[in-house]
Amino acid sequence: MTLIINADRLLSELHHLATLTDCPPTTDTLLPAPTQAVTRIVFTPRDLEARAWLLELAHEAGFTTRVDPVGNTYIRWQGADPDLGVVGTGSHTDAIPHAGMYDGTVGVLGGLEAMRALKQAGFTPKRTLELLMLTSEEPTRFGIGCLGSRLLGGVLDPTTTDTLPDRLPESDPTATTGLTLHDVRTAAGFTGPLTEVTLPIGYYHAWVELHIEQGPLLERAGIPLGIVTNIAAPASYRFTLEGFGGHAGALLMPDRRDALTAASELILSIERHTLAANAAAKAEGLSGVDSVATVGSVQVHPGNVNSVPSRVTLMLDIRDTDPERREHTMSAVRADIADLQSRRGVRITEERINADTPAISGEHIVNTLASICDSEHVPYLKMVSRAYHDSTFMARLAPIAMLFIPCRNGVSHRPDEYSTPESIALGTRILALTLAQLANE
Ligand code: GLV
Ligand code: MN
Ligand code: MN
Repeated sequence: MTLIINADRLLSELHHLATLTDCPPTTDTLLPAPTQAVTRIVFTPRDLEARAWLLELAHEAGFTTRVDPVGNTYIRWQGADPDLGVVGTGSHTDAIPHAGMYDGTVGVLGGLEAMRALKQAGFTPKRTLELLMLTSEEPTRFGIGCLGSRLLGGVLDPTTTDTLPDRLPESDPTATTGLTLHDVRTAAGFTGPLTEVTLPIGYYHAWVELHIEQGPLLERAGIPLGIVTNIAAPASYRFTLEGFGGHAGALLMPDRRDALTAASELILSIERHTLAANAAAKAEGLSGVDSVATVGSVQVHPGNVNSVPSRVTLMLDIRDTDPERREHTMSAVRADIADLQSRRGVRITEERINADTPAISGEHIVNTLASICDSEHVPYLKMVSRAYHDSTFMARLAPIAMLFIPCRNGVSHRPDEYSTPESIALGTRILALTLAQLANE
């Protein structure tokens, strides 16, 4: 089989998708090119344009399509034996505010190019090949990441998920529009019960996702590809701190119950216990970098220069390759919260949004990727994914693995996210060969 990846077509499609953005051209002259920031939030007009365009590309290429009630989009190339388990690939096209143009999109458009190239090469799959564009991998709008793949994998209860509040206002993630997921998805044209989204275990024979690394290891090592052996377990929480506000001049210091100073202590406590978890792991001979925690969103009420803050809401994103260690860190933070509440006279409430288990790649899929890299003489690194991906939840359905390509300076979730055309083409080629091999098993 002579496989030709049309890198020019793929690149021009990636660039076209990047134009479907709600972010004005950036004025930040310190950022290297490309500086077009991408914001494409699920079920906004821009997301719907991207979805319609992807369906057009799929039909042009001769594939059939299906869209499920949450908007997961299936692009299907029926195999000679449709009763066999399907071989799946895919990723997401939604983008967090002020992001780059490669996160997720390389896995969707690269997956499409891989299938087109196989078709053009005259390949006939025994198993059906499917490319999925999964809805809302990013948590921006409904507060939880991997909405589509969680529902597919049976990780979210489809009978309650429709009540998730719409948190679209970008400037204030604590605000809601009063609408629910059900309202928003049906208005966007995605109807039907969410119970229809879940797939049976065994539906997929194998799942492989192509993605940019989003970290610096491949570039630093000068290695062109990464094969993901496990995906760190993510969790996220919303903390609300309620104190007592008032006039910034007249409310005397001894009388204050400032929610923001309490929040500052909480944020530092999270950092301290995460660093301690890493130090303890290192002392046990482990890598000592596997615990990470981020408070990336803080809302202060009422948010005036001359008001003492009475309420703060903050979002914590905490991840670990070892979920027990993550829970241990959370327990230490909770002990500090108890102390903070009594010492500062604030009330702190915790809402758990998700606390997931890690995904372990299927040995067979990892070995298939590795043997194809070997036969193509392409060096690879076996590595951990510290970002989460739809594959985290596809792993509930099928053996999975991921293929990473390097990205410049390890940068992601920023407008200057960048992978070279050569890396994108190589990742797509190895993906195509892997899909072909898995499809004929
Ligand atoms: C995905 O975007 C993540 O936050 O890991
Ligand atoms: Mn992302
Ligand atoms: Mn992604």
